[in-house]
Amino acid sequence: MPDIAAPAIRRIALTTGGGDAPGLNAVIQAVTRAALQQGWTCLGIRDGYDGLLRPERYRAGDGCVELTPERVDGIAALGGTLLGSTNKGDPFAYPTPRPDGSVATLDRSQDLLDALARERVDALVAVGGDGSLGIAHRLAQRGLRVVGVPKTIDNDLDGTVTTFGFDTAVAFASECIDRLHTTAASHHRIIVVEVMGRYAGWIALHAGLAGGAHAILLPELPFDLAAVAALVAAREARGQAYSLVVVAEGACPREGHRALLGPAEAGHAERLGGMGEQVSQALGRLTGKDARCVVLGHLLRGGSPTAFDRVAALRFGAAAVRALAAGQQGVMVALTGRDVQPVPLADVAGRMKAVPLDGDTLATARDLGICLGV
Ligand code: F6P
Repeated sequence: MPDIAAPAIRRIALTTGGGDAPGLNAVIQAVTRAALQQGWTCLGIRDGYDGLLRPERYRAGDGCVELTPERVDGIAALGGTLLGSTNKGDPFAYPTPRPDGSVATLDRSQDLLDALARERVDALVAVGGDGSLGIAHRLAQRGLRVVGVPKTIDNDLDGTVTTFGFDTAVAFASECIDRLHTTAASHHRIIVVEVMGRYAGWIALHAGLAGGAHAILLPELPFDLAAVAALVAAREARGQAYSLVVVAEGACPREGHRALLGPAEAGHAERLGGMGEQVSQALGRLTGKDARCVVLGHLLRGGSPTAFDRVAALRFGAAAVRALAAGQQGVMVALTGRDVQPVPLADVAGRMKAVPLDGDTLATARDLGICLGV
């Protein structure tokens, strides 16, 4: 909502939180340059909010740095984030070691607001996924002028058609699946490729389609491996003695559980992973064929962003500054159709965007005869 009573902006701060995603540096560049065009100073907070909440960890004054044209020059093509990131730095549940070695979670949101005031920050651009945007929403409710920017390779944020990082992850996963076709075909094997994505199957579905997978297992559709084994057998009967199966890390058997690498801990969600190996072993048993599993994991978060992700990130960053200049706050910039525009954080924070079961992308997979494990 525009707030015409708010004082003029002179300084803004920028934070990147949660898992890194290709395109973060492009957002940093766009926000910095657009802010400078407005005549504002732009500060970058290191490692989520750690630069302000744990300044002692940084060289003097280095927890929060001024972003100059020189600092952001040429960074749009780089993966990672110039500012660093953390997914264990929620200021409302900040992990704080106790003397006995255990970890307490403390509400340090007021410390953060005080630190921002000391830095004379008038508004914040918070770049992140569901966790970071939830934090941004709560900070906005505490009176801070905040604009969120949606980031995640998982593409699971509601209110925006896409997040930056997703396209790069899908492009890399597709290339890996392309490469695995040859080994699978040469050795008459089943190869299972596990991809990230948390509880949404966007990466698995898009990479599986682009890479020509024969089966794709998504969190949105609890699977029955008998259906995948039947597909493998049918291909074998047609003389196609190999199969490629893409498994989302959050996929779940109809009779069973998600595969976890670790439980939720202070400030960090549960760690998903391992379903690919389970599927590979079970398919090997069910079909009698040689089966292997390849886990793409964090490889999907690395590398130079695709041109699509660079442009998306630049548009999101510039739109965030335009929103602030227009007096908007408590919003997230979102691609809603042709344009990037602000949507209320209240409408999107904490809401996951799953692959729609009635969408045309899933219908395409079905129409192509790709097995979805159902
Ligand atoms: O949200 C991005 C993501 O890469 C998920 O796909 C994955 O489940 C998670 O982050 C992994 O997080 P971490 O790097 O903390 O293990």
